[in-house]
Amino acid sequence: MLKIDILTLFPSMFDGFLTESIIKRAIDKKLVEINIVNFRDYTKDPHGKVDDTPYGGGAGMVLAPQPLFDAVESLKKDNTKVILLTPDGKPYKQEIAYSLSHYEHLILICGHYEGFDERIRTLADFELSIGDYVLTGGEIPSMIIVDSVVRLVDGVIEKSSHECDSFNNNLLDYPTYTKPRDFRGMKVPEVLLSGNHKEIEKYRLEEQIRRTRERRPDLLKEEVNDIGN
Ligand code: ADE
Repeated sequence: MLKIDILTLFPSMFDGFLTESIIKRAIDKKLVEINIVNFRDYTKDPHGKVDDTPYGGGAGMVLAPQPLFDAVESLKKDNTKVILLTPDGKPYKQEIAYSLSHYEHLILICGHYEGFDERIRTLADFELSIGDYVLTGGEIPSMIIVDSVVRLVDGVIEKSSHECDSFNNNLLDYPTYTKPRDFRGMKVPEVLLSGNHKEIEKYRLEEQIRRTRERRPDLLKEEVNDIGN
């Protein structure tokens, strides 16, 4: 079973995330275990402080190393991978989601405030960014990573549902239709009604390539972007 520990200063941000829909079902079926850990519980500061002013000056507060070092060291096992969420991490991609879904234990560190002490990076096996924008903390990025990883864990959703996801093989998904055949003059492509599975497969692959070329030509040039080990 995949176990994920999320280190955060804002545990209640995860309430709805863990108690609804597919993530809740995966937890209930014991396919994943997700623990929200408030790393303030690990601070040795008598007033519960986890941050301080930056050496050299500058605005805001910086997360201090001690609480996160103690938290990671107490939770880490031989098979653990530690992930730090940060805008200067490696861009997160579907291939990385696949890699992460095969690990046994992940620890996700959510940064906050103006930043974190540089030495905190040494705790991480991987640093990941969910996009080129800056959020107020790593909580939403960690939910994005957990959501995209958990749906790939065996038994969480049908394998066939994610085998043809967008971004597999660096291609976007093909278009899908349901009833009715004609909705306000917009018709379902004939080939999908033909029952000819070979033709349908060919149509879908062609559509994937056409769409990707049109919308995301950058994907066609991309090398496989795995996590790197
Ligand atoms: N923390 C703040 N912004 C982030 C981003 N874009 N990706 C990951 N972690 C972050």
